Amino acid sequence: MLLNRLILIFLLATVILWACDETPTPTPVVDAATVYAKYCVLCHGQDGRRGLNGAGDLTKSTLPLEVRIQQITFGKGLMTPYQGILTPEEIEAVAAYTISLNKQ
Ligand code: HEC
Repeated sequence: MLLNRLILIFLLATVILWACDETPTPTPVVDAATVYAKYCVLCHGQDGRRGLNGAGDLTKSTLPLEVRIQQITFGKGLMTPYQGILTPEEIEAVAAYTISLNKQ
């Protein structure tokens, strides 16, 4: 049946077009506040002031972004290194977030 074939071809074309429609995968947006709440609040507290185990008071910290990224990546003293736990993007975002906690 010609009609059946036409319908089949139409369906195939639809499926092929649908499969080729490359919707770009959205780049995951890093939610720094969520990362901070999950990994950092324990020692630093929600507002950055807790200072558990001698953790620096983040509201008074004057460290530049690069140093924070280094310290979060490789750890320091009693602070856990986050290399392999957080992605570099997450580390950079949460480092910037700690700067936003600065109240000075
Ligand atoms: C196990 C407890 C602990 C956790 C969890 C922790 N920290 Fe720390 N953090 C510390 C300690 C202790 C220091 C002080 C290190 C030192 O100077 O010896 C510190 C220092 C810092 C500093 C530098 C402050 C300054 O001016 O000296 C930053 C920035 C920081 N932490 C960010 C983070 C971020 C972001 C996270 C989450 C990804 C995090 N920390 C998780 C314990 C922790």
